Amino acid sequence: MPSKVIIIDYGSQVTQLIARRVREAGVYSEIHACDVPAEKVKAMRPQAVILSGGPASVGGKDAPALDKGLLELGVPVLGICYGMQLLADALGGQLARSETREYGPAELTLTGDCQLWDGVPEATRVWMSHGDKVMAPPAGFETVARTPTLDVAAMACPERRIFAVQFHPEVHHTEEGETMLRNFLFKICGLAPDWTMSSFVERVVREAREKVGDRHVICALSGGIDSTVVAVLLHRAIGKNLHCIFVDNGLLRQGEVEEVRRLLIDNLDLNLNIVDASERFLSRLQGVEDPEKKRKIIGHTFIEIFDEESKKIEQVDFLAQGTLYPDVIESVSSKGPSAVIKSHHNVGGLPENMKLSLIEPLRELFKDEVRKVAVELGLPESMVWRQPFPGPGLSIRVLGEVTKERLAILRRADAIVQEEMRASGWYRKVWQGFAVLLPLKTVGVMGDGRTYEHVIALRVVDSVDAMTADWSRLPCDLVAKISGRIINEVAGVNRVVYDVSSKPPSTIEWE
Ligand code: XMP
Repeated sequence: MPSKVIIIDYGSQVTQLIARRVREAGVYSEIHACDVPAEKVKAMRPQAVILSGGPASVGGKDAPALDKGLLELGVPVLGICYGMQLLADALGGQLARSETREYGPAELTLTGDCQLWDGVPEATRVWMSHGDKVMAPPAGFETVARTPTLDVAAMACPERRIFAVQFHPEVHHTEEGETMLRNFLFKICGLAPDWTMSSFVERVVREAREKVGDRHVICALSGGIDSTVVAVLLHRAIGKNLHCIFVDNGLLRQGEVEEVRRLLIDNLDLNLNIVDASERFLSRLQGVEDPEKKRKIIGHTFIEIFDEESKKIEQVDFLAQGTLYPDVIESVSSKGPSAVIKSHHNVGGLPENMKLSLIEPLRELFKDEVRKVAVELGLPESMVWRQPFPGPGLSIRVLGEVTKERLAILRRADAIVQEEMRASGWYRKVWQGFAVLLPLKTVGVMGDGRTYEHVIALRVVDSVDAMTADWSRLPCDLVAKISGRIINEVAGVNRVVYDVSSKPPSTIEWE
């Protein structure tokens, strides 16, 4: 059985990073909310448990408690920050409350032998974020590190294989954090680094085959990486019993439908139905200017078409979706704003009346892991590194009414942006880069004549998760090249402006 680490989430902002670091070390990890009973964790048969940090004060009002059963599973336990305080409190140590938080870097001095410290220099920089602290470790524990402000910065009880640190080894600012986590996983727990993308693909293909048997699955393809990876994985598992539907809503970028056709039908031989519904979408969008109305119309029309097309397939039992791990973590920290912001990201939602079981092969993965799976599956670079593209497509980048003519102008301008971003190597450096067609005309001069034509805004942003973003400092020469090409090559445009707003208070898209 492959190695598995269970992380108990007490609400820290960086719990996901613990899971990331453990996986980067090649060990599979899962995050569970702190109210998960120890019995349930036992049934998951983990080889180690990590207790995360959190904002509460042990014993305080509504503070999450430690299920002591977690210490009886017979597997090593690592407590981080609040996790350390919980351990100290539960096992008879002494805590001190504090009204102020220590936040930021600190100099850690190792004061005792501990396997966590193998290969770590005696003094090293760590990252702190805590209020309360441990004054005296529980009986049987040794203090193994201190900082100028903390006498007990780490404690260990090797006999019971329980270890705890007050700082955050999972954040990059902790210089030796990776070494410490690897020491925990490989030296203390004796785990094997067996979480690789090829083993993942093998397992998912095998499981899907067993689950589906000779029944049928449908899958809505958006052209993005998540749904494409789902489709290619399931195709490996069940071949033609996977029925993919790609809805051409008339709001796609230049060449997108052809690209999907070439990759998935010509190269990979998927059972893919490309439905040209552009007329239906465009006629319903006629005269509509309000962005939220556009979104609703597009969402409903998508569901309607997906429903119609799936009825043409005999006896479907499953629906495949590209849900990712951050969307499913039932944790304290996932109840934050990210949950709300994600809601508009799914490809239109599902027909509710369809009685289908879900297959979500990417439920365990973070986005960067999906990219690794895509590479493992042999998908082309252009797919692996594709920037996010909104479900309502170009309709929310043609400000105001969406007409065929205005879409054509934007599509051409956008294609130039994509081409130049790729050619200059900037495509992969930024989060998203695209053109927006503004709902106004301005005066220009071309040759001897006065023009009165459209304005294109160039929007390029840096971001890590789309929740916040900053405008990308593209080289001026690149902006000049894009602007020059758009004005020269796209009939009907005589001006290009560069958007220099950050999110918040602006958003990435203009609508
Ligand atoms: P905003 O404009 O809210 O965008 O800063 C954040 C990220 O979400 C994408 N986005 C959408 N994606 N349906 C989607 O599937 C939508 O309606 C939608 N609106 C924005 C946007 O491209 C950016 O990556």
